[in-house]
Amino acid sequence: MSERWSSGDAYEPFIGRWSRLVAPEFVEWLGAPPDLRWLDVGCGTGALSGTVLRDAAPASVVGVDPAPAYVAFAEAHVPDRRATFRVGDAMALPVEDDAFDVAVTGLVLNFVPDPAAALTEIRRAVRPGGTIAAYVWDYGAGGLALLRTFWDVAVDLDPDAHSLDEAVRFPLCKAGALGTLFGGLDGVETRAITVPTVFRDFDDYWTPFLGGQGPGPTYLAGLPEERRDALREALRERLPTAPDGTIPLTARAWAARGRVPVA
Ligand SMILES: C[S@@+](CC[C@H](N)C(=O)[O-])C[C@H]1O[C@@H](n2cnc3c(N)ncnc32)[C@H](O)[C@@H]1O
Repeated sequence: MSERWSSGDAYEPFIGRWSRLVAPEFVEWLGAPPDLRWLDVGCGTGALSGTVLRDAAPASVVGVDPAPAYVAFAEAHVPDRRATFRVGDAMALPVEDDAFDVAVTGLVLNFVPDPAAALTEIRRAVRPGGTIAAYVWDYGAGGLALLRTFWDVAVDLDPDAHSLDEAVRFPLCKAGALGTLFGGLDGVETRAITVPTVFRDFDDYWTPFLGGQGPGPTYLAGLPEERRDALREALRERLPTAPDGTIPLTARAWAARGRVPVA
């Protein structure tokens, strides 16, 4: 399946706002000193780059993403002279060897066709002794509940949707998998980061799914209207609603960090 990444405005209310909650805890965990050169692979709309700029006092941040619309969004919304954004792929980064002290990548590696090739390429970009760190959503039970519920309901109504579910597609997003991918690095550590994802009401949950960004909304956009409506109403039934009308969910990401070995 090829999911669309075509509109920063549509991505932000869908996933960007929740990545922005994970990013501060992730950056703090890295404990990086100031004045480092950072690379943000698959920077998207700039959620993680913006957090690095705000919280880590970097010398510079280069964000790379294959989606031109996201790169344009990041350029427009992250106005910081230390930041630059480029169109490019994680498996062929448009950067020099050993040019960075820290490379980070948030919610990206599972979407890259060959995550091991991407990690090799990121290692090329980071100097020996530098840090590489990543986080991905956990799409299974107890993970990213906003999408877990979506796919559970979608598959109940359409068993063919099972193969599109990110929990099925992405073995990298299970406990321990990122740590295994990082196996060739030194001092590898992993952890979970869990954040609240509280929706004001059902519309706040549902409307971002109509924006067509990523696998779930891409699937939804291909459904005829009556099946979209049926899915919406089944979700309304399934989601937990608090007495004040909010929908209180949580999202868990798996994070890993390690250092490029010094030869
Ligand atoms: C869920 S978004 C994450 C964006 C951002 N890092 C964040 O935390 O909000 C996934 C991103 O992966 C990017 N992506 C997909 N395939 C990629 C690849 N081969 N190399 C680099 N980035 C890729 C998409 O363009 C999209 O911006």
